[in-house]
Amino acid sequence: MDDLGSVLENARSDAPKNRRAAKDKSIKVGFIGLGHMGAGMVANLLKSGHQVTVYNRTPAKAEALIAQGAKLADSVAAACVGDAVMTMLANDEAVESIVLGRDGVIGNLSPGALHVSSSTISVALSERLSVEHARKGQRFVAAPVFGRPDVAAAGRLFVVAGGERAAIEAAAPLLEAIGQKTFVISNTPKAANLVKLSGNFLGASVIESLGEALSLVGKAGIDQEQYLEFLTSTLFDAPIYKTYGALIRSGRFAPPGFAAPLGQKDIRLVLAAAEDLRVPMPLASLLRDRFLTLLAHGGEGLDWSAIGRLAASDAGIAEIERSRLPVSSAALSTVQR
Ligand SMILES: NC(=O)c1ccc[n+]([C@@H]2O[C@H](COP(=O)([O-])OP(=O)(O)OC[C@H]3O[C@@H](n4cnc5c(N)ncnc54)[C@H](OP(=O)(O)O)[C@@H]3O)[C@@H](O)[C@H]2O)c1
Repeated sequence: MDDLGSVLENARSDAPKNRRAAKDKSIKVGFIGLGHMGAGMVANLLKSGHQVTVYNRTPAKAEALIAQGAKLADSVAAACVGDAVMTMLANDEAVESIVLGRDGVIGNLSPGALHVSSSTISVALSERLSVEHARKGQRFVAAPVFGRPDVAAAGRLFVVAGGERAAIEAAAPLLEAIGQKTFVISNTPKAANLVKLSGNFLGASVIESLGEALSLVGKAGIDQEQYLEFLTSTLFDAPIYKTYGALIRSGRFAPPGFAAPLGQKDIRLVLAAAEDLRVPMPLASLLRDRFLTLLAHGGEGLDWSAIGRLAASDAGIAEIERSRLPVSSAALSTVQR
């Protein structure tokens, strides 16, 4: 990571959203992947005055955005006709098929045009994308984001960018539209992906530790709401403790904002990167098993924060709450609450 911390670019941290981009900064951009995150990102690109053409595997998800001014592309190629294309896809497999597959982004983007990849993907795939884009004379910026779908909808994401300086400058109007701040991590795209993965490892660690602490005090009869209020107004006064403390306490894990299989994917990618770099991460190994437990008990459709209820199940709180149910059903119904 050549120059981590040496460049910190603030897109416009306190500027009001919905300001239209200056005319000369309006970019003709394709956007591929209109899931929980992509939909909000496109809405903010449109609000900022960019000309957005959208493509999604399931076209129905584009309807609301077309009403807001987006054009619909009926193929990946048709989304690659502008100055840039942004992708916000689920995982490595989706990015490989959309970008590197037949009739994909690589085959259709003009030389000199830009691909901004915001999906949380592996370090290895990011490196491969850098190589393939360079071969075609295209520019590539990795720009993964921090923030859940409500933050994306508000245009308040934190963007972690990696790429050649000129490419990042070209991408800046797009990154400004989707986020409140852009941190330029490195001129090597994959460094931004590693930073994103490390952040999700920390997020999952917080969820697990909060789940254990809440079980401990909860089983002792201490009011969990008061307990969280105490924590988050003192030493743990950070958005991540507030967001996930409230989610774990409420047990409202559906519909998911960040689905459990995506969380499991991220821990898998953290461990893959750690293995390559020969960095033991025992806590990440534990989190891997937590996600597998959640998925094995029917948690596919839940938010990733549902791993934070597993500690309650381990502590027998599920049995106390649902003493009439068999143990396995009790554990499942507890995480599904
Ligand atoms: N949700 C969060 O809080 C959050 C926060 C930061 C980063 N992220 C990352 O952002 C990315 C998107 O997350 P999300 O929550 O928006 O996910 P999502 O709601 O599941 O959306 C995934 C998108 O990928 C598309 N897709 C999946 N597999 C595909 C395939 N094989 N071929 C073509 N398209 C495919 C989906 O198309 P369909 O609509 O056709 O299914 C959809 O547009 C992920 O990498 C995630 O880790 C998520």
